[in-house]
Amino acid sequence: MKNIVVLVSGGGTNLQALIDAQNRGDIVNGKITCVISSKPNAYALTRAINNSIPTRIVQAKDYKDNIDYSKAIHEALYEEYADVIVLAGFMTILDELVIKAYPNKIINVHPSLIPSFSGKGFYGINVHKAVLESGVKLTGATVHFVNEIADGGAIILQKAVEVKRDDTPDILQKRVMEEAEWRILPQAVSLFCQDKIEIIGNKAFIKEE
Ligand code: GAR
Repeated sequence: MKNIVVLVSGGGTNLQALIDAQNRGDIVNGKITCVISSKPNAYALTRAINNSIPTRIVQAKDYKDNIDYSKAIHEALYEEYADVIVLAGFMTILDELVIKAYPNKIINVHPSLIPSFSGKGFYGINVHKAVLESGVKLTGATVHFVNEIADGGAIILQKAVEVKRDDTPDILQKRVMEEAEWRILPQAVSLFCQDKIEIIGNKAFIKEE
């Protein structure tokens, strides 16, 4: 059984999707053992507490720089015996000291079809604003491993979502979450926990049965 540690900063709807999947028995060979929040008032913490999942708060403002903050996150992950780390709306870019300690073990969900609308500056609602400004007709979500390049790690799963004429950033964000993020994130985590993801270079492949 793999220990899943989820890092959050906000509302935690992706954490909720993981909890719901776990409660349905859809996370095979894994268990959410801790939720770490970068913000003390993140609603994601309430979701964890409501489901009796241990929580920790590690706030950037308590550390002098990103390296010290990343060291504190690394220490927490070590203490929690993390086998897999899920960034579920975690809004801090961690120093490579964490990434190097957990190669292809940190999974992120991003609200676009990477490599479109990804990299530095593309996070949260900004992504959907940029999508609507561009006029693309399809967007979606990507679940990928985290490497040293922002949104640059091997892609595990992607799902496309239609952009509609009257969409606002909020409406589009909700559709991308419902139709894509909340589905492919638990799927990818379950595949990882079952050792069903094979990495070749910077590409991830799902092992056939
Ligand atoms: C989600 O849409 C997630 O994909 C995005 O932030 C939102 C968090 O929502 N993450 C990023 O933009 C990371 N680059 P949640 O707290 O309700 O899961």
